[in-house]
Amino acid sequence: MNLLIMGLPGAGKGTQAAKIVEEFGLIHISTGDMFREAIANETEMGKLAKSYMDQGNLVPDEVTNGIVKDRLAKLDVREKGFLLDGFPRTIEQAEALDQILTSLELSLDGVVAIEVNPDSLLERLSGRIIHKETGATYHKVFNPPVDYKEEDYYQREDDKPEAVKRRLEVNIAQSAPILEYYRMAGLVHEINGNQEIAQVSEDIKKVLTNLK
Ligand code: AP5
Ligand code: MG
Repeated sequence: MNLLIMGLPGAGKGTQAAKIVEEFGLIHISTGDMFREAIANETEMGKLAKSYMDQGNLVPDEVTNGIVKDRLAKLDVREKGFLLDGFPRTIEQAEALDQILTSLELSLDGVVAIEVNPDSLLERLSGRIIHKETGATYHKVFNPPVDYKEEDYYQREDDKPEAVKRRLEVNIAQSAPILEYYRMAGLVHEINGNQEIAQVSEDIKKVLTNLK
């Protein structure tokens, strides 16, 4: 099964992606995670990506499309299927993805679109904490870790209010045309993301079990 998971910043893409890949054995490909890894490794690509991400802007398409293409070309993707998280984010990226998939003889089976009220997102992002060792995402209030120790967790650079504001602007502007693109192809499954994490997971699982 080859899937996309879409939604505004803080909609719960990463949270739900972790559960989906565990349940369905897919390869999780998050462009945001790949950029953060490159930043941590201080690569040239990481330095470039950081200059855009810290401001809440999109990394240029030529860089982003390139890393997605390289990752999708790997054998594990063909064997297990993929869940793309955070890509595509522009119509140009959606068109590039079509070309990449065609060239690799892969196809898309569905798009999980998490719909949320944008007013709730600042609170979700400002309370997000990430476990240093495992990279697992939690929330101080909505999904607190058992045995919370502040020193074991970090917050994302781009979860500061100014960057969040810009991320929301950029993503709200881009999200409608992209969803329409996939709706025309009959691939979109809308999920109500304004519910508790466990309920959102249930709803996604129902949709995907029928897709299999
Ligand atoms: P990326 O890392 O993809 O960030 P994003 O799209 O802004 O989304 P987030 O990861 O912030 O949110 P999420 O939906 O995964 O939510 P999460 O599950 O963590 O991209 C970062 C940057 O990289 C971009 O700004 C851009 O610069 C660059 N980039 C990435 N892809 C790119 C591309 N294709 N093109 C160009 N540039 C690109 O949940 C958030 C919080 O809410 C957590 O604390 C969680 O516990 C909590 N939560 C989750 N679900 C619920 C719920 N149902 N109820 C209550 N709380 C919840
Ligand atoms: Mg994420």
